[in-house]
Amino acid sequence: MKKIAIYPGSFDPVTNGHLDIIHRGKHLFDQIIVAVSKNAQKSPYFSLEERLAFLRTALKGHSGISVESFSGLLTDYVKDSGAAAVLRGLRAVSDFEYEFQMALMNRRQNARFETVFLMPDERYTYLSSSLIREISRLGGNVHGLVPNAVELALKKRALTTR
Ligand code: PNS
Repeated sequence: MKKIAIYPGSFDPVTNGHLDIIHRGKHLFDQIIVAVSKNAQKSPYFSLEERLAFLRTALKGHSGISVESFSGLLTDYVKDSGAAAVLRGLRAVSDFEYEFQMALMNRRQNARFETVFLMPDERYTYLSSSLIREISRLGGNVHGLVPNAVELALKKRALTTR
């Protein structure tokens, strides 16, 4: 039986840290479903369609990795997809409290899957989508931290909103 893992998140936008976790996860699971939350944030910086497109472009040609969106409870989505695990990245101790809380609440809702934490490459431990948005909005350089298409879109957005 195929071992499937769900990698959920807002991905607003996807960073190279997220991609690093996905590729690490692929070494452990037969299939990774990257699940973009429709309702994680009321007004995301990028639309759902844009966030999906960035991920699909960045992951094109990689077998066993698909990109979908989901709404409602993550645990319901995991149940419907038949996944054995939820994948999350842990960058630093500061991530732990929130991740621990989510993992245990999810387990309480549906105990049939495990949350698996992976550490990204050290180059990405300080990286977050919110920091990327802020740096870019204020004219900073995010080269090498996000996929090219994201860098371009961030630049365009920064120019139109300044
Ligand atoms: O990238 P993020 O914003 O840290 O991802 C958070 C996400 C989308 C994984 C989380 O908010 C989530 O699972 N949302 C779906 C709704 C849900 O199940 N909430 C209860 C979480 S215990």
